[in-house]
Amino acid sequence: MKVMNDESKVNINWFPGHMAKTERKIRESLKLCDIVLELIDSRIPVSSRNPKIDKIINQKRRIIILNKSDMADMNETSNWINKYKSNGINAIAIDSKKGKGTNKLINEIKKVMSDKIEKWNAIGMKGRKIRVMIVGIPNVGKSSLINKLIGKNKAKCENRPGVTRVQQWFNVDKDLELLDTPGVLWPKFDEETGRNLAITGAIKDSIINTEDLSFELATFLRDNYLDLLCDRFKLEKEKINDLKGHELVELIGKKRGMLLPGGIVNIEQATTMLLDEFRSCKIGNITLEKVN
Ligand code: G4P
Repeated sequence: MKVMNDESKVNINWFPGHMAKTERKIRESLKLCDIVLELIDSRIPVSSRNPKIDKIINQKRRIIILNKSDMADMNETSNWINKYKSNGINAIAIDSKKGKGTNKLINEIKKVMSDKIEKWNAIGMKGRKIRVMIVGIPNVGKSSLINKLIGKNKAKCENRPGVTRVQQWFNVDKDLELLDTPGVLWPKFDEETGRNLAITGAIKDSIINTEDLSFELATFLRDNYLDLLCDRFKLEKEKINDLKGHELVELIGKKRGMLLPGGIVNIEQATTMLLDEFRSCKIGNITLEKVN
């Protein structure tokens, strides 16, 4: 079963009017919720966060969820969690595809809400469920997480009047219910963010120059994950120190025998292969944005 949402990939056509409407809808839904789960991509914790999120969420309780942690560098994910925690924000790493970490997440939600639950009990609202909402940019894993959280409970949902329409709530367990539609946020629109989103596959390849992307990725891997890069493509560390991005991709293509007639490296093929192997974690678990 898959819960669908409107935006399957980051849409280049986001514009201020669209953003304002989205923000308004999220703010309306937020009024119905007790806690927000802010989903980000563990590989790009900065680029996958919405620039206005703190303002939108305001004083609501929140847990930052570093999703796709199965694809990221574990040490970097821990560094990010520690950073958020040192800033007073609850954070947890999960894998929504396999559902790893979802039980821990449910416990964390209850922990973050424990004082509120006590208050509800004290004023005769025993049994009041914690209302949860998921927000995040396109492709970050919102639908996957919703599906893992509600699982077989989908059929047991109930209707309740919302602000602009009837909102549906799904039972997660006896203490928790989840708003059916996640809040779809937009990312920041600068070059670096666009590049990181494209490398991880959140932006469609057809709208970007993939060759430049692969050159940047190759350089990043050489500078940050040298062993993984050399192991995967049988490169010699000492021979790639001074190579520029395009030279690295050319060498990688050559090592894989991607040659055109005349012995010229097929850069297009090498580019696609490098990006594919990064996105499918064949090179290894890699985080593109590290804690400063
Ligand atoms: P969205 O609702 O936020 O737009 O994201 P969605 O759940 O549709 O997930 C986008 C893609 O990311 C999906 O892959 C999904 O399987 C994958 N994904 C989500 N969470 C995780 C995770 O924690 N780990 C990994 N490895 N992948 C995750 P897809 O290629 O679009 O579809 P498919 O592979 O499920 O067929």
